[in-house]
Amino acid sequence: MARLLTAFLLLVNSLTAFELGVRGVGISARSSPRTPLPQLVATPATPAAKPAFDPAAFDKVVMKTYGRFSLVVSHGQGCYLFDDKGKKYLDCAAGIATCCLGHADERLIKAVTEQMREVNHVSNLYYIPQQGELAQRLVDSSCADRAFFCNSGAEANEAAIKLARRHAITKLGAKRPVIITALNSFHGRTLATITATGQAKYQKNFGYGGKMVEGFEYVPYNDVAALKKMVAKINGGFFSRLFRRGRKVAAIMMEPLQGEGGITPATTEFYRAARELCDATGALLMADEVQTGMGRTGEFWGYMKHGIEVDVFTTAKALGGGVPIGAMCCKESANVFGPGDHASTFGGNPLACAAGNAVMKAFEEDNVLANVNARGEQLRAGLRALVATYPGVIKEVRGWGLIVGCELEEACGFAAADVVAKLMENGMLTVPAGPRVVRFVPPLVISEAEVNEAIDKFGAALKILSAK
Ligand SMILES: Cc1ncc(COP(=O)(O)O)c(C=O)c1O
Repeated sequence: MARLLTAFLLLVNSLTAFELGVRGVGISARSSPRTPLPQLVATPATPAAKPAFDPAAFDKVVMKTYGRFSLVVSHGQGCYLFDDKGKKYLDCAAGIATCCLGHADERLIKAVTEQMREVNHVSNLYYIPQQGELAQRLVDSSCADRAFFCNSGAEANEAAIKLARRHAITKLGAKRPVIITALNSFHGRTLATITATGQAKYQKNFGYGGKMVEGFEYVPYNDVAALKKMVAKINGGFFSRLFRRGRKVAAIMMEPLQGEGGITPATTEFYRAARELCDATGALLMADEVQTGMGRTGEFWGYMKHGIEVDVFTTAKALGGGVPIGAMCCKESANVFGPGDHASTFGGNPLACAAGNAVMKAFEEDNVLANVNARGEQLRAGLRALVATYPGVIKEVRGWGLIVGCELEEACGFAAADVVAKLMENGMLTVPAGPRVVRFVPPLVISEAEVNEAIDKFGAALKILSAK
């Protein structure tokens, strides 16, 4: 009797499996309304139908720190994203200059899945070979000698700020180390990095008695005279040093091109003046390469555009191609950290570094820098050609490589956010950089045809908006 029952159960199970297998490849099987056994659901070839997304439920539990567009991304492939309704978007935002290899790059998938199988996280108390490999790549591609790994741009800048303070205190005899940054800059959202950020809107109501973190001063970007004056004011002569009780310039920290601040490149004159001032005072020149680094500008690092070397630079965003990782890299002469001085649990773990190494390897294989330069020129030329078609709409097209900004005329009747929304409606993603600049930061592997599509879509959006 028991044998008979077992045979019957096996038969039922195999029939159900067959039926579900057939359904899985899309052939209508049988009309029986029998409910499938949940453990036997077959794997579909396309991404699984997900339960309908409920924005109201999301907004109830997730903090509203972002003004979100009503877009739910389902999946991505190359330079395209697809929403939950199947609509296709040309992605010229790339997770804000992050998905440098586009979406679902096979090399990145392979590296991350293989690493996940081996070991995804171990403490920095032990050697992590993947971290050493990535540090070597960062060192080989830049003027730095060493890297410290963390998880984001803000953290990388925090590390740089701490390094600059310790360097000034231990090597320059400063008691009150001051870091000079630029107005309109952006360096992150931690307390020290919003203080470094020269934009009051990011600091509002985060102070203590109206004060942010001490030890930061600001100068207008690209104003050489103001920079020289500020250094002289802080370091001063004998009496000013006496009264300022050890105030000393510890670092000048700047983006090689301001990203969030409106895609504004630094002038080489400004960056070189900063280098000379640092050489003369012993302060560190620190480049925030979080947005400009990893080939985005057409050089591996943005500071290279200015033909100088820096003492410290920071990177994140594109370093892992979308897998969270950041790094602060410095010259040996600026390396004042020893065991226990700085740390991060996740920083440079095997998984994140496997992603970073895969990205770096793909850059070499695909000669990504050449593509960035060619496609960047094509994009700027195409956008500039639209200036004549829409007079009074585009004020300027600027940028380097594949970080390009299109500034709208004040009187054109619409803002950057309106263009971004119209583009999204028409199947393309971009990001505003301030109220008047539409930012293009596509994957660095974007093709010639895709850049043409971006230019056409942008022109079509301007046509609709300027006809209103
Ligand atoms: C120049 C720059 N620095 C720092 C940051 C902060 O990076 P994260 O958001 O990874 O902390 C950003 C982010 O946009 C940035 O553009």
